[in-house]
Amino acid sequence: MAILVTGGLGYIGSHTAVELLSEGRDIVVIDDLSNSSALAADRIREITGKSFPFIEARLQDEETLNKLFSDYDIEAVIHFAGSKAVGESVKNPIKYYDNNIGSSLSLCRAMLKAGCKNIIFSSSATVYGSNNPSPYREDMPAGGCTNPYGETKLIIEQLLGDIVKSNPGFNATLLRYFNPIGAHPSGLIGEDPRGIPNNLLPYIAKVAVGQLPCLGVFGNDYQTPDGTGVRDYIHVVDLAKGHTAALNNMDGLKIYNLGTGKGYSVLEVLKAFEKACGKALPYEIKPRREGDLDAYWSDPGKAERELGWRAQKTLYDMCLDTWRWQKANPKGYEG
Ligand code: UD1
Repeated sequence: MAILVTGGLGYIGSHTAVELLSEGRDIVVIDDLSNSSALAADRIREITGKSFPFIEARLQDEETLNKLFSDYDIEAVIHFAGSKAVGESVKNPIKYYDNNIGSSLSLCRAMLKAGCKNIIFSSSATVYGSNNPSPYREDMPAGGCTNPYGETKLIIEQLLGDIVKSNPGFNATLLRYFNPIGAHPSGLIGEDPRGIPNNLLPYIAKVAVGQLPCLGVFGNDYQTPDGTGVRDYIHVVDLAKGHTAALNNMDGLKIYNLGTGKGYSVLEVLKAFEKACGKALPYEIKPRREGDLDAYWSDPGKAERELGWRAQKTLYDMCLDTWRWQKANPKGYEG
């Protein structure tokens, strides 16, 4: 029996693959390498001392997918594969509806055909939209996303909910991530965005390593203590462990936030990173970025009560591990 990890060579997928293998589970990875590197597979093997099959394919390639389900005995799927750049989703919505929803439909069809009835889905806090007060709780109404990326996450959540209703015994767990940062403490795997990073931590890391001159802080006039945006940052290893906890507790449709419950501002994150890398980092205040919210964070209590999972690592751990990864791999995997 194995766990199929879609997008298993990407940022969160690779860290989850490590946790699954470390727990003694067998995995099969499918990834189209559109935003990941095959070298991540070698690194996962190096960290865990375990090997696993890797199939390079898109999920929409249903022939390959059906063959995969007949070649391996897949007890559950953890579905990470998808496109995730918010700005790009606004410019190219068809790519997002196709890559994210199209691939999820193919995957669900193949699962039902093969009789595989367990899926964990990589969702996002973005599904809470802009109208809910923080801390976000799973029983708040989802919707009102500010971009097509968020809409695709919400639609896939609804798709899985409908499949649970129509297929007795089918279990779907939706994990809503807050802001995953950090890297494996080995420094062997981490976030490796292509081009100029969109997200805060990879951007700061590239400033620290000297590849970008200066961090732009998007707005300092928000309703927050220091005026900069506040988010619930979570260490990617804690997040990965949330998936293994969820695997052990599947039962119909379940929804969990994976966050720490604590918000930090952009300037607080920058300070923590400066401490981790031992130098001051240049920044300038820029205008607000369109679509950004001022502040949100999770209520992580449900995952703790029902899954026995709770994030352990501090913001400083997150910065230290990001820095170790960035220093050892200044140009990412291919560098
Ligand atoms: C975004 C998405 C989220 C997605 C996540 C990871 C929305 C509203 N948010 O989160 O769904 O899961 O990316 O891909 O759809 N910042 C700067 N300078 C920078 C970059 C960021 O000041 O160069 C600030 C932002 O304004 C924000 C904070 O840092 O306050 C975090 O930004 P980012 O890392 O991009 O994540 P989110 O926008 O929170």
